[in-house]
Amino acid sequence: MTYENILFERTDGIAVITMNRPRALNALNAATIGELNAVVDAIAADSSIRAVIITGAGEKAFVAGADISEINTVTSALQGTQLSESLHAVFFKMAELPQVVIAAINGFALGGGFELALACDIRLASENAQVGLPEVTLGLVPGWGGALRLQRLVGTGMAKYLVLSGERIKAAEALRLGLVEKVYPAEELLGAAHALARTITKNAPLATALAKRLINRGAEMSLRDAVAYETGIFGQLCTTADCKEGTTAFLEKRPAVWQGE
Ligand code: CAA
Repeated sequence: MTYENILFERTDGIAVITMNRPRALNALNAATIGELNAVVDAIAADSSIRAVIITGAGEKAFVAGADISEINTVTSALQGTQLSESLHAVFFKMAELPQVVIAAINGFALGGGFELALACDIRLASENAQVGLPEVTLGLVPGWGGALRLQRLVGTGMAKYLVLSGERIKAAEALRLGLVEKVYPAEELLGAAHALARTITKNAPLATALAKRLINRGAEMSLRDAVAYETGIFGQLCTTADCKEGTTAFLEKRPAVWQGE
């Protein structure tokens, strides 16, 4: 399947989604959102894919936000609500994927673009990247969960600072603030994302999938409920062939061979 605004490649168990509307700095219009939804569905149905990387085409932008020219034509609250809901559904599907989803932020990640990165599991950025939520400069609030994911990632004060100021944050500062996990020279970013994907996919598949789920679901629970949820997952993993293999391989001083069972 080919898409108009997205490049989708699968190699050696790693899928790369490249947002590809460079003339609009990869801004997310309705067509692109529909395509991203279809790609996420394709990944959910393909167990040969072990990790996902999302990046932007061109050297300037990851994604410069929702398509402002489309927002400008919205005439009813219902239309605006539907625009907001359109990506909420896709982002929750990404969170439910067993595969890790890595954002390789190769330039501007603003508004909906930063919200896309925040919906990924891990954010890597190039030295020339800039992130921010400038929606208030357009008379809006972040409509794709950005303020709320930011609050959960870095706390209420920093979320309010970034959302209310609309300030653009350069990569080094974004790293310091915990908005991205690592920063690389631009030419090394994709290689680093692939290397991280390979590191993660060398680990036990059920364990990495359930670790992602534990952290995502646990963030929505009280600590007491979250550790009870953790206990259930830990107990379940203790009975898997992979846990037997991982622990035996350690004791026999050899690499583990996973079955994903
Ligand atoms: N939507 C539509 N078109 C966009 C766009 C966007 N979000 N961002 C950039 N473009 C277009 C520009 O209009 C321009 O098109 P033309 O060449 O036809 O004029 C082209 O991309 C290149 O952009 P610039 O000339 O502006 O490039 P620049 O280097 O001078 O600036 C930038 C780059 C700082 C990223 C600037 O383009 C910018 O501020 N973009 C908008 C960022 C933004 O406000 N994003 C939030 C959108 S609202 C949102 O996301 C709502 C939500 O939460 C759901």
